[in-house]
Amino acid sequence: MKDKIKKANSLEDLQALYTETFGKNGTMTQKLKNMANLSNNERAAINAENAELRQLFKEKQNELELAVLNAKLATEKIDVTLDNEPKTRGTIHPLTQTLKEISVILEGLGYTLWTGPEIEDDWHNFTALNTPDYHPARDMQDTFFLENGNVMRTQTSAVQIRAMEKLGAPIKMFAIGATYRREMDTTHLPSFHQIEGLYIDKNINMSDLVGNLRTLLSKFFERDLELRIRPSYFPFTEPSVEFDIKWDNGKWLEMGGAGMVHPNVLRNCNIDPNEYQGFAFGFGWDRLAMLKYGLNDLRAFTDGDIRWLKNTGF
Ligand code: DAH
Repeated sequence: MKDKIKKANSLEDLQALYTETFGKNGTMTQKLKNMANLSNNERAAINAENAELRQLFKEKQNELELAVLNAKLATEKIDVTLDNEPKTRGTIHPLTQTLKEISVILEGLGYTLWTGPEIEDDWHNFTALNTPDYHPARDMQDTFFLENGNVMRTQTSAVQIRAMEKLGAPIKMFAIGATYRREMDTTHLPSFHQIEGLYIDKNINMSDLVGNLRTLLSKFFERDLELRIRPSYFPFTEPSVEFDIKWDNGKWLEMGGAGMVHPNVLRNCNIDPNEYQGFAFGFGWDRLAMLKYGLNDLRAFTDGDIRWLKNTGF
């Protein structure tokens, strides 16, 4: 047995030998049980053997446990000096940042956020906006037409129609989202983004429009801005204006279009223009972000280049 113990090469083998020796019917157990009739010398010998075997088992167990531990340490080694895998943290896109800023301001002014589909039907993108298919103003926007007659929405103004159809008047809403036109150069992309506002109630007039725009832009650019409106033309507003803000260098910057919602548009949404009237405005979301954060290449907005995003400062 002593040899067997010394040669055991696993804890399982050792356990088996231990049972063989000290188990209920183990060899040593039997010897100890039958000691009563033996001489003193014989008892002493058995006791000594018992002690020796227990000692051997203990030593062997320690040895085997150590071996198991060493094997484990060898395979599960962690090299704490190893370089960490480089992790690139994302950043907030300037459009997301400006979306948050604009939303907080417009919600503070009582506007509710609406969304609409980017694939739009002709009614919501054009016809309901007082631009029937023979209307020359359709040429103002180079449209992507889909085979089924739908369009990639050319303006977030389509969301005004959806909101008025659903809620009627009074209504105070804004929409913010992607728009599409067939154009592309350093300042235009086929996909860009617009912000749209609409406020219809009783007794809303042009000075409400000017006040709301000025508040919105002053809060957004965090300075008291001068606002200028110039006469313009949009099929869905009458009168129509374009609005500019006076920038730090004294120059007027064109911001967007606006006006009093055309009675035909209200009628198209089952709102009585004799009872309700109001204003709408629309402008470029990308442009706002570029101006506020000093970015000059619109194309970088869609490149997803993390180095550029990091440099935008968020
Ligand atoms: N939809 C116009 C455009 O894309 C912008 C615009 C002008 C929106 C006047 C309006 C508005 O709501 O009243 O050029």
